[in-house]
Amino acid sequence: MCGIVGIVGREPVAERLVDALRRLEYRGYDSAGVATIDSGVLARRRAEGKLFNLEKKLAEDPLPGTIGIAHTRWATHGVPNETNAHPHFVDGVAVVHNGIIENFSELKEELIGEGVTFETQTDTEVVGQLIARSLRNGMGRREAMQAMLKQVTGAYALAVIFADDPSTIMAARSGPPLAIGHGRGEMYLGSDAIALAPFTNEITYLVDGDWAILGRDGAFIFDHDGNRVERPRQISQSAAYMVDKGNHRHFMEKEIYEQPEVISHALAQYVDLGDHTVDTSICGAIDFASLRSLAISACGTAYLSGLIGKYWFERYARLPVEIDVASEFRYREIPLAKDQAALFISQSGETADTLASLRYCQEVGLKIGAVVNVKESTIARESDAIFPILAGPEIGVASTKAFTCQLTVLASLAIAAGKLRGTIAPDEERQLVKSLTEMPRLMSSVLNAVESQIEALARELSRYQDVLYLGRGTSYPLALEGALKLKEISYIHAEGYAAGELKHGPIALIDENMPVIVIAPFDRFFEKTISNMQEVAARGGKIIFITDEKGAAASKLPTMATITLPHVAEIVAPMVYSLPIQLLAYHTAVFMGTDVDQPRNLAKSVTVE
Ligand code: G6P
Repeated sequence: MCGIVGIVGREPVAERLVDALRRLEYRGYDSAGVATIDSGVLARRRAEGKLFNLEKKLAEDPLPGTIGIAHTRWATHGVPNETNAHPHFVDGVAVVHNGIIENFSELKEELIGEGVTFETQTDTEVVGQLIARSLRNGMGRREAMQAMLKQVTGAYALAVIFADDPSTIMAARSGPPLAIGHGRGEMYLGSDAIALAPFTNEITYLVDGDWAILGRDGAFIFDHDGNRVERPRQISQSAAYMVDKGNHRHFMEKEIYEQPEVISHALAQYVDLGDHTVDTSICGAIDFASLRSLAISACGTAYLSGLIGKYWFERYARLPVEIDVASEFRYREIPLAKDQAALFISQSGETADTLASLRYCQEVGLKIGAVVNVKESTIARESDAIFPILAGPEIGVASTKAFTCQLTVLASLAIAAGKLRGTIAPDEERQLVKSLTEMPRLMSSVLNAVESQIEALARELSRYQDVLYLGRGTSYPLALEGALKLKEISYIHAEGYAAGELKHGPIALIDENMPVIVIAPFDRFFEKTISNMQEVAARGGKIIFITDEKGAAASKLPTMATITLPHVAEIVAPMVYSLPIQLLAYHTAVFMGTDVDQPRNLAKSVTVE
């Protein structure tokens, strides 16, 4: 979602601000803008669409100034045109904002009643108007900022500059993250440490409710009541990551190919690669032995990894799991008790609904575990136990490596939980862990083996408008993930179904115009899934069969294509079968010419409800 950057510098900032915005592109956006102060005058350039359009404007009409703020906007209130693009200017005040000001309509009405006119359809403009009103009423800048913060409700990360103060940025956070970067004689502000990586690796994260005043030589941070507070300065690892595509056409392709490596890295933290055991200390503050049940909540792809995790916790640890998408979980008023624990899964660690669900469980007094990629994120900070997935920065909006790393961590935790609960014998533990350790090698060989077949198949798939995915057991959530991936990036309508549900509805849709992708490793569900496949074939449905050598040999049904993988242990099938599913969505989207890394309307980090 929206990205924010700011620099209080000594050299011109406009170009550097746009460079930093480029590092936030992955979050998803539909317009962008930058504002600076030069000789006491605020000036801005804004453009609809990609950063390229903003850069063109800057090249034609450069912006001088050594202080500035910039923004990528993911539209919530008001269409994504230039007028609604940030920064918004009101009487010498410039504002950029990530989030939603929930009471903006009342505030807007009140201001309109006082004769104020609004230029945009955004909720953000009320922030500038409120500050400007306080300044007109004689308040100082700092007081005006504080007064505005007391009036607005909702979720926000804000950066504000004032035409008559070319050495200060004010910032505030309530919800979406905001990081202050410390330089030498310069200070920076950014939505995350990745944006600031070219400038500095010394980062201070604002805590919810904080606001700050940044000058060239440092920052003062205040809590909601205006008391000075100190927040720790951390060394961020983000600078160590090369955020580029390497030899790949897209970040998504690069991230698909990185999976064997990042999974090895994650596994090394969770299992003993030598003697094939798990150390139960990986469970940290979550006492799996005494739990009555586990509640899991997450959004999007992270939710689907949780759904696979549910199968594992229930099977291997005999631990009942309650799971729901976070946007429902948070309002469902689930009765929870202290002998339960809650697990939240989030790549970014900032998803608004997941965070709200976490806080709901915190209030009840549950122990909270977080399976996150960004260790410095809010969800990580507010949890009792952090389970990092160690995937490295994921830039493609469609999640790939984070999904399989989440699965790797969940599988390890389920085995550890089984060990603690006495539901897994030492032999089974060794067998399961051994299978996990073989996974990176298997994934590399699958990536090499299937790519050209899938590329050709994608060309064919791109001619269809609807696709159905079917699977049983852990292949069912994978069917959901396959459909999600395809619709996210190729915009082809796709649905995932439990194969057993075929007869309860989707069978009505089967004809020669709807390919059915059947995910069926040769496992204990294979025969049942094949019966469902038979039902598809009998109705002229076109089947894309994703299976293993044994499965391919066992089925005699005609298919549009059969993608044959090596036969793998049941616990690693979801990770290995993710690869053909991701590649099929990727190549279909490439073939259709969509914006694979930043698909329309989607955001990487969803910091509003
Ligand atoms: C967005 C992203 C998905 C992601 C979901 C949850 O929808 O596009 O890729 O799975 O948010 O995000 P999280 O950061 O909490 O995993």
